[in-house]
Amino acid sequence: MTTTATHDGQGVAAGGATPALELRSVESGYGETTVLRDIDLIVPASGVVGLLGPNGAGKSTLLKTVSGVLRPTQGAVLLHGEDVSTVPVHRRSRGGLCHIPEGRAIYRSLTVRENLVMQALKGREAEAIERASEVFPILGERLGQQAGTLSGGQQQMLAMAAAYVRDPQLVLVDEPSLGLAPIVVDTLFERLDVLRSAGTALLVVDQFVQRVLDLADHVYVLNQGRVDFSGTPEGLSSTDLFQRYLGGGVAPDASKRVEDT
Ligand SMILES: Nc1ncnc2c1ncn2[C@@H]1O[C@H](COP(=O)(O)OP(=O)(O)O)[C@@H](O)[C@H]1O
Ligand SMILES: [Mg+2]
Repeated sequence: MTTTATHDGQGVAAGGATPALELRSVESGYGETTVLRDIDLIVPASGVVGLLGPNGAGKSTLLKTVSGVLRPTQGAVLLHGEDVSTVPVHRRSRGGLCHIPEGRAIYRSLTVRENLVMQALKGREAEAIERASEVFPILGERLGQQAGTLSGGQQQMLAMAAAYVRDPQLVLVDEPSLGLAPIVVDTLFERLDVLRSAGTALLVVDQFVQRVLDLADHVYVLNQGRVDFSGTPEGLSSTDLFQRYLGGGVAPDASKRVEDT
């Protein structure tokens, strides 16, 4: 898939379909602190876009700006062609956007079933539980268990279940593999591929660079709040950026990140 973000902000997706997401010259940050500057980025209507970059580059800030947790101080955020720069978070999520933030946003004191009910669209709770159990059978076996007592990998599956039960058009995933053993990470990335096959658009951030490159059709590299690279995974692999910022495809501290399965 070819996608080009041009500097006049007119993004062109292959096939001419309206992109799921477009950032035009976006500046964003926290209070007085500007983190992102002049960001042009496109996620086509379907397929996977990877967002890479060193710690502190602004990846999570970018996802928060898309979901509406942060508002851009300059530029515009467009979802399916509509400028949502000033639209609040809950209205963006009703409009088919699902943000799975870093750090497993689940209700730890509630059961798996109760968490899935919270994720579900109103009136579609039973369907949500069924769908989540299909995608992640282990969750189906543990519907009555308190979410905080699940393993880290199972908690991440529960967080990611939101992307299946709400039937979103665009999913933002922030560091799903953080702290997890490689075998669990494989499962999570396989499930992301299932979402892609269903025609969902994904914007995926992860420290396991090679896994992101294997999954993505297009990749952006952020560094110090700016886009340093935009192109195909193959194109990135052949640049010196790959070595310089991304350690040649291995999470730099991968061995230290494994806390459990
Ligand atoms: N809540 C916050 N308040 C102020 N600065 C923040 C906040 N969260 C992140 N930052 C700063 O924004 C920059 C980008 O952070 P972040 O988007 O989390 O990077 P990444 O996800 O790429 O590691 C960092 O310099 C970080 O310190
Ligand atoms: Mg982050």
